[in-house]
Amino acid sequence: MIPDSLSSSPLEPLITREYDTEPALVHERLRSTYGPVAPVDLLGVPVWFVLGYDEVLHVLQNAGERWSKCVANWRAFAEGRVPADWPPLTLLAADNTGFQDGDRHREGRAAWDAALRPYQDPAHPQAQAMERAILRYCDELVDVITEGTSTGLADLCAQYGRPLPLMVAGHLFGISIDRGDNLVMDLWRLLDGPDSGGAFQRLYATFLELTTVKRRRPGEDVPSYLLAAKPDFTDDELARELFLLPAFLDFTGSLICNAVVEMITNPRLRAALSTGAIEEVVNRVAMLKPAIANVTLRYARAEAKLGNFTIAAGDPVLLSVAAANADPRMASALSDDTVRSTRAHLSWGAGPHRCPSRRLATQITTIAVRRLLERFAALGLALPPDQLPWRPSPFMRALRALPVQYEVRPASGPRDRSHAGSSGISGSTDSSGSTGGEGGRQPSGAPAAGDRPAARSALWTFLRRLRGGRRDDQPGA
Ligand code: HEM
Repeated sequence: MIPDSLSSSPLEPLITREYDTEPALVHERLRSTYGPVAPVDLLGVPVWFVLGYDEVLHVLQNAGERWSKCVANWRAFAEGRVPADWPPLTLLAADNTGFQDGDRHREGRAAWDAALRPYQDPAHPQAQAMERAILRYCDELVDVITEGTSTGLADLCAQYGRPLPLMVAGHLFGISIDRGDNLVMDLWRLLDGPDSGGAFQRLYATFLELTTVKRRRPGEDVPSYLLAAKPDFTDDELARELFLLPAFLDFTGSLICNAVVEMITNPRLRAALSTGAIEEVVNRVAMLKPAIANVTLRYARAEAKLGNFTIAAGDPVLLSVAAANADPRMASALSDDTVRSTRAHLSWGAGPHRCPSRRLATQITTIAVRRLLERFAALGLALPPDQLPWRPSPFMRALRALPVQYEVRPASGPRDRSHAGSSGISGSTDSSGSTGGEGGRQPSGAPAAGDRPAARSALWTFLRRLRGGRRDDQPGA
């Protein structure tokens, strides 16, 4: 019998082994049983799961007015029926721009748009420094993987896709590499556990300290730009905003891994890559394998009709952009035998909360994929594609590991480091004397780590150990 409200029980659990491995099958089953909206159980809590393209777009575009992002408008939460230790609750209650409505959201969002603009305008010196930094980080990570070998095995998730955007986070935060390393390790703990509670507290303390430092001595970095755009951010508010940055950058790591798998397994895409159509391929992967499969909850402000159901005021909806992008009403326009894609997909969101950083995330991914193609003569999956392990998550579509066999492309001369100006993994100084302040600037308020190689030891020791195939030293273990 089809339930007609979220209080009907039992509801089908969404997060299952089948969902981890074959989410598209689960989407299609739910779609054929319920239509574009299905009642499901999300880790023990009932939610409406929205699968239809039109319905997801409708809710995204009406965020704030008819569909709140603020957890206080969730009836079950307000009535104390959501367990305090329900895993996604810390994130949903973060009380930053990603989870606010109305004027608070508009003001915070304007600050984010201003803070990210310098990195997304190709003519801006910050964007150019960013591009050089991304290339340098790619090379540093490939250097660690390939040190002393011409062929071998690597986990491109742990050794490349995940650390790269989080090194970018250090750059955007304007902090020295040693602080950046610790931040990277704690972010992994926060997202994957164990010790996510401890990691949250340490990150919050770091962001609070960073806020104080940047208020005193502004630099050319995101926290300083956010403060310049909205000087009345309190320290607590800004520290909460800063969580958004590394979290979204970690999604960029997932997009990189998903793009690498596509590049290896889809000969048509590989052929397109060789003609330089990397950005097009990245857009297609973002659409077909969205790193954020489901965006975080919205809550109905008033009773609303959605799909075949009436959603009660205060009910939560979980929007599946992965299912919406595959909705036959949208996807039938695309043929499988082309690399062309459409910009109408919902992987970057839509409406007031749409991603303000689409260009930067695409740029990081494009450079990361291009650099792999340049540095490796051959890359092959070390596991059949259907055996790749996925991270169980209500929101992300992310690989846990991406084992590959590689063959290094022989260097035809000294590797072009015109972009780099920096070391391999040892943390030695670049021409500006700093590893942390690309673009020749010393990040304000933080010591340069460049002349202290040991300062980079946490992340680099972890990455170098992975080279030998040792997984016993995972962050958080
Ligand atoms: C592949 C990488 C990324 C994907 C797929 C992605 C996707 C998205 C999506 C779908 C949203 C809307 C969420 C919602 O409606 O609830 C969003 C919002 C946001 N993204 Fe991105 N994003 C990515 C990378 C980034 C990066 C690198 C940054 C920052 C440097 C960033 C900053 C933000 C912020 C601040 C918001 C909140 C905007 C708001 O609520 O108004 N994103 N992103």
